[in-house]
Amino acid sequence: MINSSKMPAANGKISVAPSILSADLWNLGEAVKQVETGGADWLHIDIMDGHFVPNLSFGSSVVSALNRKTDLPLDVHLMVEEPLLFIDSFAKAGADLLTVHIEAKDDIAEALELIKKAGVKTGVSIKPNTDPGLLEPLVEELDLILVMSVYPGFGGQHFLPESEEQIKRVREIIKRSGRKIWLEVDGGINPQTAPLAVQAGADALVAGSAIFKAADPVLAIKQIRQAAPEI
Ligand code: DX5
Ligand code: ZN
Repeated sequence: MINSSKMPAANGKISVAPSILSADLWNLGEAVKQVETGGADWLHIDIMDGHFVPNLSFGSSVVSALNRKTDLPLDVHLMVEEPLLFIDSFAKAGADLLTVHIEAKDDIAEALELIKKAGVKTGVSIKPNTDPGLLEPLVEELDLILVMSVYPGFGGQHFLPESEEQIKRVREIIKRSGRKIWLEVDGGINPQTAPLAVQAGADALVAGSAIFKAADPVLAIKQIRQAAPEI
C-alpha cells in the first residue's frame, strides 16, 4: 500500500466537492485555500487525456502539488481511455479517491483492484447515456459511483434533466447492495439543480463553475449545501 486515503465512507451527509477545472489557475493555491476554509468537503480534480474526452487538463504533478498544500480529500476523476496506465502515479501523488469510467478501454475490475491495492478509495463513473445496470457486477468493489449529469469534457454545461432517472437507478443499486457507497453527481450543479440531484438520491455534489466562477465561492458552497438538505 502506498497511500492512506483521507476520504470517509458514505455517512448520509452531503459532501460538496468544488471542481478546480473552473478555478483561476493563476491563483490556484488561493482558490483552493478559500474553498477549504469555506466549507468544501473534498476537492474534485478532473483528469482528461484528449482521447476519452476531447480536452486536456491536469497530470499527476498537479495532484501532488495540491496534496502538499491542502488537507481536503482529493477526489480524482479520471476521464482517460487507459486508466491502468495512470493509477499508480495518481495514487503516489496523493489521490484519496480514484474514479475510472466504465466506458474506458481497460478492464475496469482490474483497474479497481489496482486502486484498492494502492490504498485509495475506488470510484466508477457512468456517462449520461450509459446503462446504470452495468455497475451491478462491480458494486462490491466500490466506495463511490459518479453519475455524470453532462457529457464529460468541459465545465459550464447545463444539468441534463434525464440525469434524475440515472441517479434514482444508481441509488436503487446501492440500496440493494447494502454497502456504504457514495453517489456523486457531476455536471451543471448549482443551487437550483442541487436539490434535484439530492432528491433523486445523490449525497456528493461536484460543482465547478457554480463555485469558482461565483463572485463569492464560499457563499456558493453554502447555497448549494442549503439547497440540498441531507437525505
Ligand atoms: C466535466 C467535469 C466536471 C466539471 C464540472 O467533464 O467532469 O467535473 O468540472 O463543471 P461544472 O460544475 O461547471 O458543470
Ligand atoms: Zn469531474
